[in-house]
Amino acid sequence: MSNAILEVRELTTKYITRFREDIYAVDHVSLRVEEGKSLGIAGESGCGKSTLALSLMGYYFPPLYYTSGEIIIDGRNISGMNSDDVRKSILGNEIAYIPQAAMNALNPTQKVIRFIEDVIEAHDPSVTKKEVYNLAKGFFEAVGLPADVLQKYPVELSGGMKQRTVIAISVILSPQILIADEPSSALDVTSQKMVIKMLRNLMDKGYIKAMIFITHELPLLYNVTDDIMVMYAGQIVEKASAREAVFDPLHPYSKGLMGSIIVPEEGLRDVKLTAIPGVPPNLKKPPSGCRFAERCKYVRPECKGTSVPLRDVGNGRAYRCIIPETELREMYAREARKNV
Ligand SMILES: Nc1ncnc2c1ncn2[C@@H]1O[C@H](COP(=O)(O)OP(=O)(O)O)[C@@H](O)[C@H]1O
Ligand SMILES: [Mg+2]
Repeated sequence: MSNAILEVRELTTKYITRFREDIYAVDHVSLRVEEGKSLGIAGESGCGKSTLALSLMGYYFPPLYYTSGEIIIDGRNISGMNSDDVRKSILGNEIAYIPQAAMNALNPTQKVIRFIEDVIEAHDPSVTKKEVYNLAKGFFEAVGLPADVLQKYPVELSGGMKQRTVIAISVILSPQILIADEPSSALDVTSQKMVIKMLRNLMDKGYIKAMIFITHELPLLYNVTDDIMVMYAGQIVEKASAREAVFDPLHPYSKGLMGSIIVPEEGLRDVKLTAIPGVPPNLKKPPSGCRFAERCKYVRPECKGTSVPLRDVGNGRAYRCIIPETELREMYAREARKNV
């Protein structure tokens, strides 16, 4: 097994509401991202994807609290570290995060280069303006931006250029791992693909060692990330290679996500547009059995009541469902025949 850049073991974190209710948005999540690899995290809105990203960066601010589990970045265990130390020594140079709606993160009153100077000086006050400029120029070129963008104000940039600018800035401290949290959800599919290619390119060139790409569109991850993890109601419901998760999903929820979006992509043309009926459960009181049972077309009486473990089926593949692999595949095949 090669070098793990990020290893998360049984991480559980919660929001504590004003009324002292616990919301377990990340429930015993384990994952591993090796050097040179990318992991996609997919799931509907509200499934805990962003909370997982914040949690594994050790970004705990009320109402979010760490409960249990381990987070190891490049061999360093950050699980017990306080948020201030994490911000100083981890964020930016170990893990970089591109949040949702990142395009609005640029300060409109500041030229792009000023913003970058602030970021770099905060980490290394001895660095000169000339050095910052040269460094920034290299990163901007790596994402296909001309150096004169550095002298511009954010309002002077198009949406696509802002996106590239945010991406270039987020990796400027050469982090080990980049987490992109739906950076492209506002863009059309072609622009989304471009963003993803850009990130992949940054990894291939060695600016980052690994990446996590979060999206609510599972099919988008095909051909983009090496592995995929599907989240539902705070839990992992499936882990697989990208190809398996997209073309041979096991969990009925993953299967449903595959049928819910059309991506004009080779091999994905026939995907039908059907949303999964219903909504995810309230995480204040998640169902005691399978959390997807309420919405599952294949639900059986034994799905409710006792919790369903994540079942390991070998080759790094796992899914959280009581129905055996072969039975699931038979049901899906039968359904596909019915639909033609
Ligand atoms: N600040 C907060 N306080 C309380 N609950 C929150 C807060 N932020 C998110 N949540 C809850 O945590 C769950 C997961 O949210 P989130 O991680 O944003 O999901 P995703 O990124 O997959 O859309 C949701 O059910 C949401 O209601
Ligand atoms: Mg989110």
